Amino acid sequence: MTAPTAPSIDRYLGTNVHLLPQTDQLRALHTVVRDRNARREDFVFCSGRIIRLLIEASLNLLPFQPHDVRTPVGSTYEGLRLSAKVCGVPVVRAGESMESELRAVCPGIPIGKILIQRDTTTKLPELYYIKLPDDIADHHVLLLDPMLATGGTALAAIEVLLERGVPEQNIVFVNFITVPEGITAVCERYPGVRIVTSSIEQRLNENAYMVPGIGDFGDRYFGTD
Ligand code: PRP
Ligand code: URA
Ligand code: MG
Repeated sequence: MTAPTAPSIDRYLGTNVHLLPQTDQLRALHTVVRDRNARREDFVFCSGRIIRLLIEASLNLLPFQPHDVRTPVGSTYEGLRLSAKVCGVPVVRAGESMESELRAVCPGIPIGKILIQRDTTTKLPELYYIKLPDDIADHHVLLLDPMLATGGTALAAIEVLLERGVPEQNIVFVNFITVPEGITAVCERYPGVRIVTSSIEQRLNENAYMVPGIGDFGDRYFGTD
C-alpha cells in the first residue's frame, strides 16, 4: 500500500501562508535543531534564533500608520508606526518557547494563555485552560505554537479566540514548522487567518508527527524527553 499523498498548498502560499526566506543561514539553524543528537542548549539557542525571525516576520503583517519624524540634520523622515493593539497568546506548553522572543521584541505586550494538549493516543486536542485579556477582541493576536501538524490544536485555539470576539483577519499564527495537512486544515476553515512559518515539512507519519520533522518540540525544548 502506498502512503497517502499530502494535499497541495500552492494556493495558500504568499497569501494565507508566509514562509520565511529559505536562506542558508536558516537551513543551518534548522540543521542543528533537526539533529536527534543535538544538545539541549544548542536546540534552545538555535530554535530561539529562528523564533526571533518568525516574530519579526509576523510583525510585518500587522497594520502600520504614517508617522513622520525630524532627523538630526533637520529633515523629515516619512516613517511608520504600529497602529494596532497587539496581544501574544502562546498555546501551552510548546508555545511558551516563543513567548520570551516576543517579549524581547515587544516589551510590555499583554500575554494570554491557552492550554491545549494532544491526547497521546487519539492525537485529538484537549482544551484545559484559557486566560486572555478582557479586551482581547480589540487586539491583533499573535497566536504562538511551534508545531502545526494535524491542525487540531490550532483550530481549537483559533475557535477560542473567535468566541472571544477576535476577528479571523486579526489572527496571525506564528509557527516553527508545519505540513500541508495542517496548513489545509487551518486555511480551509479560517481563510482569514495568516500563518507565518519557517518550514513546510513533507507529510505526517502514522503517529501524527511531521516528517522529516523535529520530534516532540515541547519535550526537546523543555528537556522532558
Ligand atoms: C504539540 C504542539 C502543538 C500540537 C500540534 O503539542 O505543541 O500544540 O502538538 O499538533 P496538531 O496540529 O496535530 O494538533 P502537545 O500536545 O505535544 O503538547 P506540548 O506543547 O506540551 O508538547
Ligand atoms: N507535535 C510535535 O511536537 N511534533 C510533531 O511533529 C507533531 C506534533
Ligand atoms: Mg508535545
